[in-house]
Amino acid sequence: MDTINEVKKQEVYIEKIKEINKGKTLKYHILTMGCQLNENDSEKLCGMLENMGYVKTDNFQEADINLFNTCCVRENAEDKLFGKLGELKRVKEEKGTIIAIGGCMMQEKHITDKIKESYPFVDVIFGTHTLYRFPEDLYKALVEKKKQEDILDIDGEIYENLPIKRDSDIKASVTIMNGCNNFCTYCIVPYVRGRERSREPKEIIKEVEELAKKGYKEITLLGQNVNSYLRVEKEKGKSFEEYQGVNSFATLLRAINKIEGIERIRFVSPHPKDFTDDVIEAIRDCDKVCKLIHLPLQSGNTKVLKEMNRRYTKEQYLNLVDKMKAQIPNLTLSTDIIVGFPGETEEEFEDTLDVVKKVKFEQVYMFIYSRRVGTPGDKMENQIPEEIKHKRFDRLKALVESQIEENNQKYVGTIQKVLVEGTSKNNEDMLTGRTDSNKVVIFEGDKKLINQIIDLKIVSEHMWYLKGILTHE
Ligand code: SAH
Ligand code: SF4
Ligand code: F3S
Repeated sequence: MDTINEVKKQEVYIEKIKEINKGKTLKYHILTMGCQLNENDSEKLCGMLENMGYVKTDNFQEADINLFNTCCVRENAEDKLFGKLGELKRVKEEKGTIIAIGGCMMQEKHITDKIKESYPFVDVIFGTHTLYRFPEDLYKALVEKKKQEDILDIDGEIYENLPIKRDSDIKASVTIMNGCNNFCTYCIVPYVRGRERSREPKEIIKEVEELAKKGYKEITLLGQNVNSYLRVEKEKGKSFEEYQGVNSFATLLRAINKIEGIERIRFVSPHPKDFTDDVIEAIRDCDKVCKLIHLPLQSGNTKVLKEMNRRYTKEQYLNLVDKMKAQIPNLTLSTDIIVGFPGETEEEFEDTLDVVKKVKFEQVYMFIYSRRVGTPGDKMENQIPEEIKHKRFDRLKALVESQIEENNQKYVGTIQKVLVEGTSKNNEDMLTGRTDSNKVVIFEGDKKLINQIIDLKIVSEHMWYLKGILTHE
């Protein structure tokens, strides 16, 4: 596939729609569900729409285009989409708003079938592999007034140079790879995002350099398995061009660390099984790489991990944590945990609690196991009753919260480097920023401090944020 020409072709459709919209003030509303990869995709969709002349609105009722970028990693996302579609029906009838739905959920046939049957007023459906083609699909829906369904069930390609309208002027996400080859047995992502494929080193470096020129201070590198960046390419002998010494995730971190203007580098998500020594060394050596590392655990029990196809044991995970802590000064960790995977016994769940107690994570994202159609987990017979799943979730939550409180206490009295992001949502007179370890800090200060890294003394802790004061005026 000639991806460069495909993107150029889409630019022509953007221009055509811009011409149609000339002289009118048309608005779009976008609802994004799911992970940071989806948020980054939405920034690309916003870029396309704004280049067509549409202006963003937060009110879906006044929008000429209502766009959804969907997630299907857990069931609640589906309830949310169908609820919203119900509300939109009236807006469609009264105003004729165009309704377009894209993203991961659209790669599931049972979902698109349901939309066509129960919500026939939806105009455009597109998938993860056809996001770049949204301008063409929208154009056809607008001009030919025909419903568009544009979904491909393929391994996927990489499309560079799509338009982009970023959410922030300070922090930016950069997707370094798409897809996933791991097939954890609970997870739908490999089925809806296709096979793992990495962007060319040069394209990533170019994007980060441009962001630095624009004044961005923090970069988050995104992928489902970032520390296997370029692995598939090397294994399958697919050609890629080494650029500035980049031929792996570790060398990518080192190259980005050299880019002037960028002050913080984060990445999500690495996989414990691929956490090689060169990555640990790169994190240690690169001063800009934040020392909060997200290291998804999923379960603390070796048998459950095996059933999940995670390819590490409880001991291997704990050894990795020890090794990382020994080599990287001031390292903190965050994680993802699933409770109630099929067959998980009480004792096995307690292994998860045990790992949480031992590692003392800075942050834990907790999930109740959700059956996903088409995954091996869904076919397992020993599903855990909802009530037990919820009870385990509550026990884990209580433990995590008590640990977070204890951990927050450690910040009180310390001086932290904080990247100031803007005014606080709840109080216009206060500023908000984040520490290296991604903790929110609220403080009083001049707005000219926004987009700077400053020293703050932490004076109190409040579960989900810290309060700070300037160390000097
Ligand atoms: N690639 C990343 C995460 C992708 S999805 C990784 O491997 O860590 C984000 C998180 O959602 C996962 O880490 C997992 O904890 C959770 N998740 C995925 N599938 C799930 C399911 N079926 N039920 C509940 N949680 C799930
Ligand atoms: Fe899902 Fe596992 Fe891939 Fe993460 S690594 S996206 S959890 S299959
Ligand atoms: Fe959801 Fe797709 Fe991300 S399923 S978690 S939006 S990759």
